[in-house]
Amino acid sequence: MTKYVINGGNPLNGEIEISGAKNAAVAIIPAALMVDGVCRIENLPEISDVKTLLSILKEMGAKIRVVDKRTLDIDCSRVGTTAATFDMMRRIRASYYLIGALLGRFGRADVAMPGGCNFGGVRPIDQHIKGFTAMGASVHVKNGIVTAVTSDMVRGAAIYLDVVSVGATINLMLGATLAKGMTIIENAAREPHIVDLANFLNSMGADIRGAGTNEIKIRGVKCMNGGFYSIIPDQIEAGTYMAAVAATGGRLCIRNVIPKHLECISVKLREMGVTIVDLDDSVIVQRDAPLLKTHVKTLPYPGFPTDMQPQIATVLCLAEGTSTITEGVWDNRFKYVDELAKMGSTIRVDGRTAVVEGVPYLTGAPIKASDLRAGAALVIAGLAARGKTVLDGVQYIERGYDKMVSKLNSIGADVKIVSEREGKKITKKIV
Ligand code: EPZ
Repeated sequence: MTKYVINGGNPLNGEIEISGAKNAAVAIIPAALMVDGVCRIENLPEISDVKTLLSILKEMGAKIRVVDKRTLDIDCSRVGTTAATFDMMRRIRASYYLIGALLGRFGRADVAMPGGCNFGGVRPIDQHIKGFTAMGASVHVKNGIVTAVTSDMVRGAAIYLDVVSVGATINLMLGATLAKGMTIIENAAREPHIVDLANFLNSMGADIRGAGTNEIKIRGVKCMNGGFYSIIPDQIEAGTYMAAVAATGGRLCIRNVIPKHLECISVKLREMGVTIVDLDDSVIVQRDAPLLKTHVKTLPYPGFPTDMQPQIATVLCLAEGTSTITEGVWDNRFKYVDELAKMGSTIRVDGRTAVVEGVPYLTGAPIKASDLRAGAALVIAGLAARGKTVLDGVQYIERGYDKMVSKLNSIGADVKIVSEREGKKITKKIV
């Protein structure tokens, strides 16, 4: 069992570099299944969700060559199976992108139902199924396996999404890339990783237009032949470090970012009195005055990201006055509030809204992460708190944050990784 021991109270100063975007990587790796040739993918984050997906592809017959720590050559031309029903599929949400990729390539997919972060509510896939059905597939779910079958191959269709869904937009783009004819996805999600997936597929030979708007047009192509692609920087990883500086104080230069993708986060931090300077591919974040209250509502991009909601809530715990946070994407994403309460925060949750009464300081405590972004928020709380925090459940953080502990320690934090194996305690100060 691994825990983080955080000695809080240090301001964060210096420079860090942001890794490739998790939610782009977990869409692009399954997309490589549809390419008849070698895809060289650069700027992959070193996170456990990526490792799990690569293991799934290998089990299916893909050849994967490590070029360097962040660059891989993936060759799926010899993959001959339509089934991805391994136990490890259930570990990650993004395994459902194999439905679109396999259906697009072979006209059939047998895929174990996805797992991934469970922040309390249901995570339906009805919009994915609706889209695949419109594209000529018959879709059944039995014993935890989704089977999607077409009589010949997938055909283009006009699909209107009833909810703006990142996952459905990506899955249907995958399904449509090698389809016969044109697919139009209306009310599509516009997140940066959707544009990144479209750019990846186009650079491999696909014909996709409109990604980044709410109408995406995909003209099916016969095959894709391979090529090079570099994944965009992670918007949420960058936002998490911005929030960390807001909570602890200090001055941080965050490199390898696309400042435009961070605007929705920067505006809220500025309202809270944080200084943010946008440069070409970096941002400087500085906080040296008391934090001010504000109101945040999460929405699909370009709204404030739900994946930053727990982190911003933690910062607001330390702001003067009463702030509110309204969750506009998920039914229930406030499980972390009970853990923050153990550190002295005052948050009252009423349905989809949390009312945060700012407190002058948080106090270190033993706490537990229940999902990836909750984990990131609790790390921020520990960094800003007085005294020692012992954080359990850090495997969630390692699903999506590349070397978080060493990045934090390089900018002045004091975080140790403590593993307990067979009753033995091993403490590592990671630098
Ligand atoms: C993606 O999840 C992300 N995951 C999530 O990030 C993120 O929170 C979410 O998008 C919203 O931005 C990945 O990219 C792997 P959705 P996804 O489909 O695709 C409803 C993180 O922390 N809905 O956009 O599963 C759904 O219930 C993770 O990195 C339907 O009703 O989310 C939700 O209310 C956690 N029917 C809303 O849409 C459907 O068929 C948005 O979900 C699909 C979704």
